Amino acid sequence: MGLNFSKFRTSVKSNYLKIKRSSSSINLTNPSLIKKNVRDEFKFIDGRRYHNVENIHYFFPNDDLEIDRLQLQHYMMRFIWRSNFSSPVRDLLDEGGARVLDVGCGPATWILEMASEFPKSEFIGVDVVPVMPLTIKPQNVNFEQANLLDGLPFPDNHFDFTYIRFLNCAFPFNLWTTHVIPELIRVTKPGGYIEIMEWDTEIYYQGPITGQLMDALVKEIRYHNIDDKIPEKMTSFLQDSRKLKNITNDSRDSPIGKHGGKVGTLALDNSISAFKLCETKFSEELGLTLEEYNALFEFYKKEVDDYKSQIRTHRFWAEKI
Ligand SMILES: C[S@@+](CC[C@H](N)C(=O)[O-])C[C@H]1O[C@@H](n2cnc3c(N)ncnc32)[C@H](O)[C@@H]1O
Repeated sequence: MGLNFSKFRTSVKSNYLKIKRSSSSINLTNPSLIKKNVRDEFKFIDGRRYHNVENIHYFFPNDDLEIDRLQLQHYMMRFIWRSNFSSPVRDLLDEGGARVLDVGCGPATWILEMASEFPKSEFIGVDVVPVMPLTIKPQNVNFEQANLLDGLPFPDNHFDFTYIRFLNCAFPFNLWTTHVIPELIRVTKPGGYIEIMEWDTEIYYQGPITGQLMDALVKEIRYHNIDDKIPEKMTSFLQDSRKLKNITNDSRDSPIGKHGGKVGTLALDNSISAFKLCETKFSEELGLTLEEYNALFEFYKKEVDDYKSQIRTHRFWAEKI
């Protein structure tokens, strides 16, 4: 891979600044997003901020540190895949008038880039917590605060392209087929596309320290009833819906660690931030003090280089019948 990552990030950043400058007016915040106060909206544990919604299974924080991680992760994905999506919807989005939904949009980095690339189409981001930019945003972007598990606040057959990325840790495994996929299908127009992007909860070519860290992560994921093997099952989930055709998938392996240049270093930083998301639990799990747990990362950094470790991401896309 020709890794000119700094050039790529600079172009993404300048794109984002362009969006900010080009918004001719500041859009009024969607009323559903004008919320009580921060104490009702969030809860704070061990110095990190979390959602405070009862029937939400998602257990990662949503503070500035996590938002930074998600933004960097977006740039990393864009670089690894050399695109923001794989569904054959480019012409439709270019033409204009298409409606695009991003479910669990987080800080909305994907949607902001997409809205700038396809200014004639309309983009809606949904998240259960308001971590998206609510005031300064392009005119073709709107946000709703909603929980997918309560049903998305849109009519049937509404979107031309429905996108969802990295929400595996938000849904216990049985809900993918009972709630998540049916709801994505419901809001998508016949002939429209659904696209799902996920990670493998695995680091390939791993050494013993990586193995221990991953075991702690997988244990935590399973504790929340979340399936760490969802990508292996996604194609059959989509097929079983009987409401989709042209079901396609693709995957990318990419390095984690300095051996992979800038993108590998970014993947490494991203993984360390992820391992630190639940550091109290993970350190207890490994029988380490918090200090010892944090010291482990110096060895982990070296180990991923020694083993030439890799990560794998997947995209699944399908057309609604
Ligand atoms: C790992 S982040 C991914 C964010 C974004 N899709 C991305 O790729 O950068 C998962 C997001 O899903 C949101 N989320 C979790 N459960 C949800 C639910 N039931 N309905 C809507 N959003 C949810 C979280 O608040 C979080 O912002």
